Amino acid sequence: MGYKEVYASWKSDPEAFWLEAAEAIDWNRKPTRALNDGNAPLYEWLDDGLVNTCWNAVDRHVEAGRGDQDAIIHDSPVTGTKSRITYAELRDRIARLAGALAAKGVSKGDRVVIYMPMIPEALVAMLACARLGAIHSVVFGGFAANELAVRIDDAAPKAVIAGSCGIEPGRVVEYKPLLDSAIDIARHKPEFCVIFQREQARAAMIDDRDLDWDEVQDGVTPAGCVPVEGNHPAYILYTSGTTGAPKGVVRPTGGHLVALNWTMKNIYDADPGDVFWAASDVGWVVGHSYICYAPLIHGNTTIVFEGKPVGTPDAGTFWRVIQEHGVKVLFTAPTAFRAIKREDPNGDLIRDYDLSGLKILFLAGERADPDTIEWARKHLGVPVIDHWWQTETGYSIAANPMGIEPLPVKNGSPSVAMPGYDVQILDEGGHTVKPGELGAIAIKLPLPPGTLATLWNAEERFRKSYLEQFPGYYETGDAGFVDEDGYLYIMARTDDVINVAGHRLSTGGMEEVLAAHPDVAECAVIGVTDQLKGQLPLGFLCTNSGTSRPDEDIVNECVKLVRNRIGPVAAFRLAVVVDRLPKTRSGKILRGVMVKMADGEDFKMPATIDDPDILDEIREALATLGYPNDP
Ligand code: COA
Ligand code: AMP
Repeated sequence: MGYKEVYASWKSDPEAFWLEAAEAIDWNRKPTRALNDGNAPLYEWLDDGLVNTCWNAVDRHVEAGRGDQDAIIHDSPVTGTKSRITYAELRDRIARLAGALAAKGVSKGDRVVIYMPMIPEALVAMLACARLGAIHSVVFGGFAANELAVRIDDAAPKAVIAGSCGIEPGRVVEYKPLLDSAIDIARHKPEFCVIFQREQARAAMIDDRDLDWDEVQDGVTPAGCVPVEGNHPAYILYTSGTTGAPKGVVRPTGGHLVALNWTMKNIYDADPGDVFWAASDVGWVVGHSYICYAPLIHGNTTIVFEGKPVGTPDAGTFWRVIQEHGVKVLFTAPTAFRAIKREDPNGDLIRDYDLSGLKILFLAGERADPDTIEWARKHLGVPVIDHWWQTETGYSIAANPMGIEPLPVKNGSPSVAMPGYDVQILDEGGHTVKPGELGAIAIKLPLPPGTLATLWNAEERFRKSYLEQFPGYYETGDAGFVDEDGYLYIMARTDDVINVAGHRLSTGGMEEVLAAHPDVAECAVIGVTDQLKGQLPLGFLCTNSGTSRPDEDIVNECVKLVRNRIGPVAAFRLAVVVDRLPKTRSGKILRGVMVKMADGEDFKMPATIDDPDILDEIREALATLGYPNDP
């Protein structure tokens, strides 16, 4: 069957489609139905089945004879080390850690926060939680203590599992002091922490709370897999929304297993045994789905890469990894390729390696610009496939289904809707617009299995953020259009979320931090176009009247404040003091106009602007920062 037939077969009977896909998963008790719509517009899939994620990702492959196959290859140019873990060894490691957690009282439904760098132990920790039915919440290492504290307070974990440090080019990031400080800030106190000591920075332990990773596993009884209901949360992953409070996306277990497994062949064209590499971080959804879960569920070998596309040690690192480990499918963010292209514009380093094993490159996380796609295609000689998804969905909404039927690639488009997704472009009144017309991108409910069930502790916010604007639809927060052939084009966010180097960040969250500076009366943060990272945050600060301190000091303090409160990953370095912000007569800050000015784009003077003269001041302020850039 080709794409059109597969999509049509899903559309004609979604429940049969997913029940059939569910056959590829080992159930302790098979689900009797696919969809539970008893609580619409909140839906549950495969909810009356019983299943265990770790069994499906690890144990069953050992039983089926894959015990000696590599499950994980750790390649770490920042530490100069490489290692391999077979499926059999992975099962034993997970069972031991799960046994240790169980002995300390962790059981089904308990939350466990994981704060770890790109080491195999991060996956072992995630899967040990899955083994017990505990709900993990992985926090990205580039977030500051305060962000970790916010997540600890929301998830209320029984335990935290952390690495002692992460390694960024040129510096060791000590995680443990950040964790200690986060626990100090948080109102909720975890009962205990398990610390994986790395030799680059061994952590000081706190008596009666911190346990050593190795010691806690000494002599424990390995834990078995605990079956959970299909709708049991597998994990919570926090992502940026409009405000500083992150949204805790809840991933249901059964749908997660079924849908991710389905994508591995149908979208990525990976067969069990193939080496699959998602060059991302376990702290992001790409890392959850395609470094940890999907490749393992499908019996692939996954690469855990601890390094950067450039500088570790050079722009040839990706090609070395592909050659050395026989990578068949690579998945990364366009920004990684922009970084490589900048260092090695002619692709000279690519020719130093044998990349004949590489079959496809997938890009996601941000808009893939046609220049980058063309460069990659020309130098790698493989199809370059853009696909579009979100933390909320956990896998792609639109893609080119390479394992079903490679469709013609149209640069600038992540191709077509995948089975499970009825994507519509809506106008403000919720009516479907014509092909070629821009609108809000919405998905007809129900979303497919494996997508978010709700937001942790925040069902009302879930309804408000996603379901209320267009009744009967899930609102993606993206705007775009569809062409005559059904190809989607993702053009912009409709909210204040920006995308910096493939990382999703909230400008509202940054504004909350800046507003807390004692000299800042008012502020606005916008996302400006950046050649490397896609977007960068830029802050406008209005200081309190009577402040006599130099603007430069205030700007520097604000930059530090965002780094300390949100983290280095926010990449907040651009800020400028202005007298006033442009607003509508009703007081709404005209962020969109400022973005256009910074990007050097034409814009229409809003009829509702309160005082157009302010724009001259904004233009001058932007010029001091070098904006607009030359295109
Ligand atoms: N722990 C601690 N700090 C981290 C971190 C982590 N896990 N990850 C990033 N940081 C820090 C970086 O050291 C950097 O700090 P600095 O301001 O002191 O230099 C800052 O956060 C920004 O990091 P990053 O966004 O990685 O930018 P960079 O300039 O170091 O590298 C790229 C630029 C393009 C090479 C890099 O962003 C990249 O590889 N991106 C790939 C994107 C990706 O994987 N996205 C995931 C979605 S698919
Ligand atoms: P995240 O939740 O971090 O995965 O970010 C999701 C957001 O990133 C989406 O809502 C889009 O705004 C953007 N995004 C992800 N993939 C793509 C893509 N292929 N093209 C354009 N934007 C994308």
